[in-house]
Amino acid sequence: MKSKSLVSIDQCTKEDILRILDNAARFEANPNRVLLEGKVAATLFFEPSTRTRLSFETAVNRLGGRVVGFQDASTTSSSKGETLKDTILMVSNYADLIIMRHYLEGAARYASEVTGIPVINAGDGANQHPSQTLLDLYTIRQTQNRLHDLQITIVGDLKYGRTVHSLIVGMSHFNPSFHFVAPEELRMPDEQKHFCDKQGIPYVEHTDFTEEIINHSDILYMTRVQRERFTDLEEYERVKNVYILRKDMLSQSKANLRILHPLPRVNEIAYDVDDSPKAYFIQQARNGLFVRQAILCDVLGINHLI
Ligand code: CP
Repeated sequence: MKSKSLVSIDQCTKEDILRILDNAARFEANPNRVLLEGKVAATLFFEPSTRTRLSFETAVNRLGGRVVGFQDASTTSSSKGETLKDTILMVSNYADLIIMRHYLEGAARYASEVTGIPVINAGDGANQHPSQTLLDLYTIRQTQNRLHDLQITIVGDLKYGRTVHSLIVGMSHFNPSFHFVAPEELRMPDEQKHFCDKQGIPYVEHTDFTEEIINHSDILYMTRVQRERFTDLEEYERVKNVYILRKDMLSQSKANLRILHPLPRVNEIAYDVDDSPKAYFIQQARNGLFVRQAILCDVLGINHLI
């Protein structure tokens, strides 16, 4: 990677991505390796999380490191008005790297510019979630035996979905074709569509979520309509249940189709889908542990994985 921090997936070359995925496969084969002995990681979560925080913390623990941090910023001095800059500088006095989730877009980049220790972006507002993208790519490769030339359908909140925005950039190295399914209010932003145009990546936008679209897909990436991103709650109520994937909608889908979701889900995947062999979102979240172990080693410059 160009920087020792991981703030955005667009800083990763194709070689960076493949190296991290290959190292993640090594961690999947053996997640318990003493590579971070004596290192302290700080997890600073200004927004709620289950998977990202716990998988990063598990990753550090399984690598022999230690974790400090907070999962609720209201218990910290930021609630007394301490700036993000001062918080980052204080934590940099104590820890060897920072893993941060923040509600403000650009917060991770800013943090990486004010500190000398690596910063891993664990999600910044509606902007980026690079570690999620790397685990998504790992999961796509694991389920399809390749990353190239796949038909990927992304459904739900494409406007505010940081996992979606990062996924498009991450997949851009591998000649994908996209179908974007969203209600008018949550359409893919122009920035991401311009990116696809510039990269020559074909995409089709839909407002209807049909079986025909599902039947052409190799990956069906469902997303949650994120209540916390709406300023107008009436608008949220209008769109919150707009697309619900049911098992019967998969009857004519390709044998290799796999259903992914960054999670948490609310209503967008019915529980009868969980029994389908095409449902892969729980394994996807499991992969987060191995991929985050690989990311931690990468940003700390640990290349020799014993
Ligand atoms: N996918 C994801 O970021 O999940 P959490 O919000 O639970 O971390």
